[in-house]
Formats: sequence, structure tokens, C-alpha cells
Amino acid sequence: MTIAPPRKRVGVLISGRGSNMVSLAEAAQAQGYPAEIALVISNIPDVAGLERAREFGIATATVDHRAFNRDREAFERAIDEVLRVNQIDLIVLAGFMRILTPWFVTRWEGRMINIHPSLLPLFKGTHTHRQALEAGVSEHGCSAHFVVPELDAGPVILQAKVPVLPGDDEETLAQRVLVEEHKLYPAALAEVASGRARLEGGAVIRG
Ligand code: GAR
Repeated sequence: MTIAPPRKRVGVLISGRGSNMVSLAEAAQAQGYPAEIALVISNIPDVAGLERAREFGIATATVDHRAFNRDREAFERAIDEVLRVNQIDLIVLAGFMRILTPWFVTRWEGRMINIHPSLLPLFKGTHTHRQALEAGVSEHGCSAHFVVPELDAGPVILQAKVPVLPGDDEETLAQRVLVEEHKLYPAALAEVASGRARLEGGAVIRG
């Protein structure tokens, strides 16, 4: 009989509806999945994602950035403390719409991943679907990546592509990408939580 290694305890940071968080919570219910979603933190009170997390029996917390008078490090120290108390091993950003300081990112380097709705390095920042339509690309998609201090610049773990179809608008394209996000992110988290993908020397090392 082989004894499975302990599952990594994951804290998911959200700012909204939390559909990616739900896809992770569903994936983590499978036998043998190497991570458990132990905690969901939102920076905005009462978002739909918090309620959805509670439906899964996941502990939730709100750390409202507006309570910190624009002191980003104080906000992050509060998040860090909630993560520590809950013995979190890995952070998953899932629609978390605050930019994190180098202090926080460095502290969690190699232990924090994000999903971004574009084929990085294309279309960093916000309104990625609008950026893709304006650029006239024929393919778009999403990227799961390790978080580094520079915004949306971390080494990519996995990507998924979708076609851009005639007549697409931001909403239809976003929806097509989101379907892929919900498959990609659980796969990327499994790679990281199992140690099959690691951040070393600024690159993703596999195996
Ligand atoms: C997702 O499309 C995610 O890729 C994007 O926000 C959405 C959150 O949806 N994240 C970013 O743009 C980060 N820069 P969700 O709350 O339903 O998971």
C-alpha cells in the first residue's frame, strides 16, 4: 500500500463571482487530487463567490482593502495573517482584482499562481477580450502562471486556446475563454500542488 502525500492547503483569493474558485473546489473533491481548497478570501464584502464557497463548506474571510487607507502592505499583512492562521501552503488568485506588492509576491514566490484571460505575453492588464478583438487576432485564450512582482509577467504553467469567431463581442469571447479557464486552472493547480511544476530561477521546471 502506498500512502498518498498530504494534500496542499490552498487559499483562494477572489473579488467577485468566483466561478474559477468553484471549478477548483469541484476538482478538489476528486479522490487523489493533490490540493484541498481550505479557505477563500475576498477583498470585497458579500460577493457571490463567498456564498458559493460556503456552499462547499469552505472557510471564508473578507479583508476589505478599503479599511486600510491605501496602505497596500498593511492590507496584505492582514491577508497574510489570515493565510498563516489557516496554515495555507499555496495561494490561488481567481479573479482577484488587486495588484499585489513585491513584498507579498516575494514572500509567496513559487507558492502563488494566477489565471489570466489571455494568451500571455499578449494582452496583459484588464479588458483582455476587448484588447484581443481590437488586435484582430484569430486565437485567444487563457494562461495559468506563477505570480512574480511584474504584473501578468510570471512564467506560464499551462495555456488553453479558443478561436475568435466572426461576430464575436467581448461577452461571447469571454464566455468561450471562461469555459477553458474552468478546465485549465484545476489542471495547473494539480501540477503545482503535486510538485510536477515548480518555479526555479524564474522558469517553470517540470518533472
Ligand atoms: C476570470 O476570467 C479571470 O481569468 C479574470 O477574472 C475573471 C474572474 O472570474 N482574472 C483577471 O482578469 C485577472 N487579471 P471568476 O470570479 O468567475 O473566477
